[in-house]
Amino acid sequence: MAKAFQYSAILLCVVLVLLISGSEQLQSSQGETLLRIQRLLNYPSALSSWNSTTDFCNTEPNASVTVVCYENSITQLHIIGNKGTPLLPRNFSIDSFVTTLVGLPNLRVLTLVSLGLWGPLPGKIARLSSLEILNVSSNFLYDAVPQEISSLAALQSLVLDDNMFADEVPNWIGSLPVLSVLSLKKNMLNGSLPDSLSNLDNLRVLVLSHNYFRGEVPDLSSLTNLQVLDLEDNALGPQFPLLGNKLISLVLSKNKFRDGLPAEVTSYYQLQRLDLSSNKFVGPFPQSLLSLPSVTYLNVADNKFTGMLFENQSCGADLEFVDLSSNLMTGQLPNCLLQDSKRKVLYAANCLATGDENQHPISLCRNEALAVGILPQRKKRKASKETIAFGVIGGIVGGIALVGLIYLAVRKVKSRKTIKRPNTRLIAENSSTGYPSNLLPDARYISQTMKLGALGLPPYRTFSLEEVEEATNNFDTSAFMGEGSQGQMYRGRLKDGSFVAIRCLKMKRSHSTQNFMHHIELISKLRHRHLVSALGHCFECYLDDSSVSRIFLVFEYVPNGTLRSWISGGHAWQKLQWTHRIAAAIGVAKGIQFLHTGIVPGVYSNNLKITDVLLDQNLIAKISSYNLPLLAENKGMVFSFHVTKAVFLFN
Ligand SMILES: *[C@@H]1O[C@H](CO)[C@@H](O)[C@H](O)[C@H]1NC(C)=O
Ligand SMILES: *[C@@H]1O[C@H](CO)[C@@H](O)[C@H](O)[C@H]1NC(C)=O
Ligand SMILES: *[C@@H]1O[C@H](CO)[C@@H](O)[C@H](O)[C@H]1NC(C)=O
Ligand SMILES: *[C@@H]1O[C@H](CO)[C@@H](O)[C@H](O)[C@H]1NC(C)=O
Ligand SMILES: *[C@@H]1O[C@H](CO)[C@@H](O)[C@H](O)[C@H]1NC(C)=O
Ligand SMILES: *[C@@H]1O[C@H](CO)[C@@H](O)[C@H](O)[C@H]1NC(C)=O
Repeated sequence: MAKAFQYSAILLCVVLVLLISGSEQLQSSQGETLLRIQRLLNYPSALSSWNSTTDFCNTEPNASVTVVCYENSITQLHIIGNKGTPLLPRNFSIDSFVTTLVGLPNLRVLTLVSLGLWGPLPGKIARLSSLEILNVSSNFLYDAVPQEISSLAALQSLVLDDNMFADEVPNWIGSLPVLSVLSLKKNMLNGSLPDSLSNLDNLRVLVLSHNYFRGEVPDLSSLTNLQVLDLEDNALGPQFPLLGNKLISLVLSKNKFRDGLPAEVTSYYQLQRLDLSSNKFVGPFPQSLLSLPSVTYLNVADNKFTGMLFENQSCGADLEFVDLSSNLMTGQLPNCLLQDSKRKVLYAANCLATGDENQHPISLCRNEALAVGILPQRKKRKASKETIAFGVIGGIVGGIALVGLIYLAVRKVKSRKTIKRPNTRLIAENSSTGYPSNLLPDARYISQTMKLGALGLPPYRTFSLEEVEEATNNFDTSAFMGEGSQGQMYRGRLKDGSFVAIRCLKMKRSHSTQNFMHHIELISKLRHRHLVSALGHCFECYLDDSSVSRIFLVFEYVPNGTLRSWISGGHAWQKLQWTHRIAAAIGVAKGIQFLHTGIVPGVYSNNLKITDVLLDQNLIAKISSYNLPLLAENKGMVFSFHVTKAVFLFN
């Protein structure tokens, strides 16, 4: 009796053990597939213990091999060889290998790393239609990423690192609906990044480092889940990418980024790692990056960041590594960087007042800073529909009103022949005069109108101080054209023979560099066929701290007098014909429309007078005076340019 009980207890145990450990009984065909994989991979050491008696679903997973089964099928297969595994032998066929793999149709996770796989990745891998994670890093796969992968609707991670994939990142990548990790580092991919990346709403990790990508980074600001962006070692740029503010790690090192940092960067409150090293960044280094709440690693070495550091700048509590080396910074190293010995801080080859010999003399940073520039237009950001609608309606209404008013003015001039004073306000807009400076960062996003309108102008650029001095014969009195409350105007002639008008603005030390960089950037966008447009600028800096002492704004020179003088005939010129008058009125309307809608936020309160409309040699009307926001913050009002007077002096 007792014996019988003992036997039945043992039996029960055996049954239980079978139930637990043998609960997954692999289909025999899938076991055969694994053995075939072992053979095709040339019996790697990681699979040395596999043989025909192996119970694949119930072997202990380890760092190199994991097989996971579910309902008698393999759902996960990880095989990781040794780093540096050489190519599989000549008779290896990636095609037969993948054909074998698709014998595991329920695979959801496939990791085949460092196995020496070589050949073009066959598109039939997409027959593994349940794949959620595909990681084939550190092999020798080449050619383009096969388009068939675009049909993997469940794919969450696509990791092709450290292979020899070539060609461009295909545009279809943006159609993978749930992709959250895309890692393509260390390949031979080239071309520009597809705009469709911005459709990957679920993307958390985007790693494209060590390839041959170039051109601008597409607008990624819509990727609200993006936490890791690594673009190291490509040829991307020059504009700083548009990104959401949830980033934890942002690596842009070894590229061609040049644009000054946008103010948004200082709002990346989760940012832990920021590496901007070895680019061509210009403009002031935002010191507040040091005190970002989460920052641990900050590397801006080997750029052309300017600006002054202060001893009293605070540092984030977790900051461990800071590299400011090889820039153009001046001032004092913040105390917080020196106090904590756990922090690694590098700052050689700047012009800091540290007293050690690996800093440059301050004059070097000053001179180099003169070359600092503001860069070509950024890609437009989608303005809200309402803004556009308002702007367009405003522009059209304004334009029609203007045409009417000019028509009336012209009629009046015609009938009376003489007018004592010009109609001072053709348009009285009642929008605010000041510029909320927090809107200015958005001014980068210029509509298509602007690109089309600016055709025919040389590209906006930075002028060197020497160039400006030479053009004006060292600001000779003969070049002096007039002076307003905001500085002097000089006539200049560039090396190429073209005439320019140069406005010289004195800056107070109190002006925030950051702020006027925004303004300069805005000015650099105000380029249109019907505006007297900016051609460039030049900074002159104080000797001691390389803050900017003077700004020279270089404008195109419009030689043919004002619309008023052409209409009222105060000059000996031939009277303007009717068609030219209409063309001028339409041109002015287009110029105003551009000011209102071609740029976000629009430039309103243009205070336009008929004397502010100049005609060029082809009788194209150009608005010479429009409100610009430069210096607005300390004047409390916008600053208006009057090129008009100057132009008379030319003639
Ligand atoms: C490749 O050739 C080797 C011998 O050179 C052989 O042992 C192996 O089975 C072959 N592999 C395949 C997949 O044909
Ligand atoms: C891991 O397990 C596989 C079989 O499952 C075996 O062949 C391999 O030797 C194991 N590797 C290590 C490092 O234990
Ligand atoms: C299969 O491998 C197991 C353990 O790795 C070993 O005990 C067994 O003898 C092997 N069977 C054959 C047929 O080689
Ligand atoms: C790909 O797999 C390897 C080996 O498991 C792993 O080290 C690596 O982190 C994986 N890559 C990604 C991006 O998950
Ligand atoms: C990108 O690489 C492919 C393949 O190497 C090459 O054919 C193509 O010309 C390259 N494209 C560019 C724009 O360099
Ligand atoms: C740090 O010092 C500078 C001048 O030395 C001063 O302008 C600035 O307001 C100070 N900042 C803080 C946060 O105290």
